[in-house]
Amino acid sequence: MTLAPGTPAPDVFSPGRIGNVTLRNRIVKAATFEGRCPRGRITDELIEFHTEYARGGVGMTTVAYLATSPEGRTDKHQYHWGMDDGGMLRKLTDSVHNEGAAISAQVGHAGAVANGASNGMTPLGPSRIPAPTGLAITKACTPADIDRIVEDHVRAARGAYEAGFDAIEVHFGHNYLVSEFLSPRLNRRKDSYGGSLENRARFARRIGRAIRDAMGDKIAVTMKLNMDDGVPGGFWIDEARQVARWLEQDGSADALVMTVGSSLLNPIYLFKGDAPLEEFAATQPPVIKMGMKVVGPKMFKEYPYTDAYMFDDARQIREAVDLPMMLLGGIVDRPSIDKAMNAGFEFVAMGRGLLREPDFPNKLREDERRRSLCVHCNRCMATIYSGSRCVLREYVPPIPPRGGHDTLQATSLTPQV
Ligand SMILES: Cc1cc2nc3c(=O)[nH]c(=O)nc-3n(C[C@H](O)[C@H](O)[C@H](O)COP(=O)(O)O)c2cc1C
Ligand code: SF4
Repeated sequence: MTLAPGTPAPDVFSPGRIGNVTLRNRIVKAATFEGRCPRGRITDELIEFHTEYARGGVGMTTVAYLATSPEGRTDKHQYHWGMDDGGMLRKLTDSVHNEGAAISAQVGHAGAVANGASNGMTPLGPSRIPAPTGLAITKACTPADIDRIVEDHVRAARGAYEAGFDAIEVHFGHNYLVSEFLSPRLNRRKDSYGGSLENRARFARRIGRAIRDAMGDKIAVTMKLNMDDGVPGGFWIDEARQVARWLEQDGSADALVMTVGSSLLNPIYLFKGDAPLEEFAATQPPVIKMGMKVVGPKMFKEYPYTDAYMFDDARQIREAVDLPMMLLGGIVDRPSIDKAMNAGFEFVAMGRGLLREPDFPNKLREDERRRSLCVHCNRCMATIYSGSRCVLREYVPPIPPRGGHDTLQATSLTPQV
């Protein structure tokens, strides 16, 4: 809800509520795929990864990404609901809770972003579209696939609740499956799931309602929804406003996280900043590496980075709905956080700023002039196959930064990969 004139904005370190969950403060660790689940096994490394954010002072950390369905994994080294986790998810939620933070599970289906070759399963899409990571073409979802995937989302919500998660974040962004259905460019269906916006949004709305019907308010439900795919003919903000309104009317979301970009067609649009093409190509098998030489510069376009870079778009959604919202994208310091709070966002979500410094909330509480050390090089993107991490993490600047990046920091990079 936008703030009424004269209403003071909440302080970021005051408790905030999403559904039935109260977070100790309003800083949320955004989903950053961890790469710590070999063949889907939940590991102690994954638990430590999230416990570090909890220790570092976040209100809630988000585990990314726990696939709803086996063919919805981006690759085989990913958990999917229905697998036996051997009690490790409960160990994970207990560990985070013991440090005073809440924990959310990002659940979703990767659609054409899934690597079918690695999963040993044909990737699914709204229509037959290229699925580049596995060099495949998707199978268009049948009505039975859609029904099953809706139920898989319900299974994920139930599994998350039973494992002690406080919230789930349903992934409706980045041209993963549901976002592919929303896209007029990728969805060429002729049935009741294609064509008009009402039809393209039907899948997302069915998932939201089915989760709410099954779970009531036992677990908080946030939804990560694209505002702009960043590609010609894609889903755009005028449609996103309407979809956000529908999700609010349906009563299926407790909060919205707005995002942009397409993991399929324009990944850097989500991040802004540098396009680490060479580092990314180095992680790929030879055929993809060769393909990236040809299409890479076109696909990995660079976009200028600015702090709080999704603010102007997200404010359009903020004005359209009353649901609690998180501002994501380039939240790096107190001014960007206060900008969000003053505009009526109840929470901020941080990805790279926390990858760089998991204890950033504690540091900011001690010194409000503190600015994130993340330099938006985006080289962490290339680490997702070997354990996502900031490549500058071990670097300790000799002079503590005060109120801005200094040249020392930017010219003394010592990558640890
Ligand atoms: C290494 C890495 C992995 C990511 N993985 C996911 C993911 O699994 N799911 C998701 O929705 N977003 C993912 N993101 C995007 C972040 O959630 C976030 O939207 C993006 O980094 C912009 O926020 P920031 O400026 O605070 O980093 C990832 C980002 C990074 C850097
Ligand atoms: S590698 Fe580190 S500094 Fe570079 S964008 Fe990622 S978190 Fe920021």
